[in-house]
Amino acid sequence: MRYEDAYQRSIQDPDAFWLDAAQMLDWDKAPTEGLGTDGSSWFPGGELNLCHNAVDRHVEAGRRADTALIYESPVTGTNRTYSFGELQAEVAQTAGMLVAQGAQIGDRVIIYMPMIPQAVFAMLACARLGLVHSVVFGGFSAAELAKRIDDCEPALVLTASCGIEGQKVIPYKPLVDGALSLASAKVESVLVWQREQCTAELTAPRDKDWQTQLEAAARASCVSVASAHPLYILYTSGTTGVPKGVVRETAGYGVALAWSMPNIYGVEPGETYWAASDIGWVVGHSYIVYGPLLNGNATVLFEGKPVGTPDAGIFWRIIAKHQVSILFTAPTAIRAIRGADPAGEYLAQAKPDTLRALFLAGERADPDTVEWVGDQLDRPVIDHWWQTELGWPALATCIGLGSDPAPTGSAGYPVPGFAFEVLDEKGEPVAADVTGNLAIAKPLPPGSFRSLWQNEAGFLGYFSAFEGHYATGDAGVMGADGAYRVMGRTDDIINVAGHRLSTGQIEEVVASCPSVVECAVIGGTDDLKGEVPVVFFVGSRGKEHEAVMAAEVVSAVREQISPIAAPRDVFCVAALPKTRSGKILRNLLRAIVNGGEIVVPQTIEDPQTVDVIIAKVAAS
Ligand code: COA
Ligand code: AMP
Repeated sequence: MRYEDAYQRSIQDPDAFWLDAAQMLDWDKAPTEGLGTDGSSWFPGGELNLCHNAVDRHVEAGRRADTALIYESPVTGTNRTYSFGELQAEVAQTAGMLVAQGAQIGDRVIIYMPMIPQAVFAMLACARLGLVHSVVFGGFSAAELAKRIDDCEPALVLTASCGIEGQKVIPYKPLVDGALSLASAKVESVLVWQREQCTAELTAPRDKDWQTQLEAAARASCVSVASAHPLYILYTSGTTGVPKGVVRETAGYGVALAWSMPNIYGVEPGETYWAASDIGWVVGHSYIVYGPLLNGNATVLFEGKPVGTPDAGIFWRIIAKHQVSILFTAPTAIRAIRGADPAGEYLAQAKPDTLRALFLAGERADPDTVEWVGDQLDRPVIDHWWQTELGWPALATCIGLGSDPAPTGSAGYPVPGFAFEVLDEKGEPVAADVTGNLAIAKPLPPGSFRSLWQNEAGFLGYFSAFEGHYATGDAGVMGADGAYRVMGRTDDIINVAGHRLSTGQIEEVVASCPSVVECAVIGGTDDLKGEVPVVFFVGSRGKEHEAVMAAEVVSAVREQISPIAAPRDVFCVAALPKTRSGKILRNLLRAIVNGGEIVVPQTIEDPQTVDVIIAKVAAS
């Protein structure tokens, strides 16, 4: 089926379209309906296990010896390959370890881990038992981890003694201890995978050595769960400091991902697929772990960075070594590689000839970067767009359905299942080539969220702006050729190196610093990371303390949110530009920092504040 046919059918008869796609999975009880009568649930009445589909099914089909997981860790100088048979054994044993801790179906399990195979085993082990995993990105602070612990009240926390960031060893256990002392929820057991780079101190009876527990465990089998059973909760930035727990239901997600692998990415079982992301993000969940394994692909788990571990050729060498067919990464990674190797010498040496296409997502793909990497690779470079809430790509070029790459600068065409519209502020569709709010008409396809964890109001908020539609929070424009360009967020979310952060949340942290009277945080454009936080604050201490106050602001953000949210610039100012009604003029600050047109509104309280800020930014 070609793209146009597939798209039309998915919109006109979603029930039949997705019921057909459901055949791609093994079911313990096959569903008889695609879309439920409630108009939002998928595959009601069905029962299945996603770990069985990702792992055991391939072993049973005679692919025991085929490669399933490729761990490449330049930061530790190690690598290891697991076949589907080995993966099954590891996952079943890990599941047995979780059973021995008393975990029961539906319990939440926090996974706060670096990019090591045990993290993948743990995710799949949870899926095997119907436990709901919640992976927390290893770069988040103790305070952020504590928020997630309090929200989902896990029975268990799984962690490792440390992560490795380039040359730095980052002990994780003190962060977990810190989070557990901050959290109100009580956690009975913490399992710690001890790495040789650093040994964590364990405090009995709560803390347990993962390796010892694993050895003592008996392998556990897959447990059948209902279609709507939550597979995981993944927290993402909202507009405040409270993260939103996106709940992913099992069957819809499994079907959507299984469908996406051949149809969007054009990969066949047995090929190697690599999403160079982190398991802490939605891309890692969908395309490091579940998607490729559901499709019977070998998947690459990469513990390193695109540059500096050891150099800008690491991506290309891994592609050549493991015959990777499709690479998926963030534009920032390509910008970093380009910065370190502008002439593409590493690429020419490595000869990543098996690569068929490069997919980019997570942030705006600037045409300059897309063209550079396209020229270097001489392969299609495909921008595609999605969000944690949606779970899988919503705009893309579906190369598996025969589409030619969308024009550079666009994020592609609606993926089957996603009925996009561009709406004005009143919810009326705008014409082609006119920018508006990107919205998706209900029903959202399988794989997309149907709730936020214990936050019904937050969930309904996505559907309140435009009747019958999900509001993406992004502005966009549809061209006359049907391709969509994404213009950026309409709220205070920014994308830093493909990581979604809330400036509102950063403001909350900055405002809590003792020397800060008031503040504003905006996204500054950045050649490498796309956007970075830029802070303006009014300090309570004299001019001679400006540098100290700014340093306090930076450490507060690093320690209370994450080093990935560290502000690039911090400006101490005498006053923030405000309207007479007291509203901070953030658009004006953005224009000053990013070199846009500076329009000072009539309603400004004190025009002089603007001149002072312009001079300060210019001098930085
Ligand atoms: N655990 C602990 N700390 C982490 C971390 C983790 N998992 N990930 C990042 N950090 C820390 C870094 O060590 C760094 O700390 P520092 O300021 O003390 O040096 C800080 O957070 C910022 O990290 P990062 O954003 O990775 O910047 P960088 O300068 O170290 O590296 C790039 C720059 C471009 C190489 C890097 O940003 C990158 O690989 N980007 C691509 C991101 C990506 O793939 N996103 C995909 C989302 S789909
Ligand atoms: P996340 O939920 O972390 O995946 O972030 C989702 C947000 O990232 C989207 O709402 C967009 O603002 C941005 N984003 C993701 N992919 C793209 C893309 N291809 N082009 C532009 N922005 C993107």
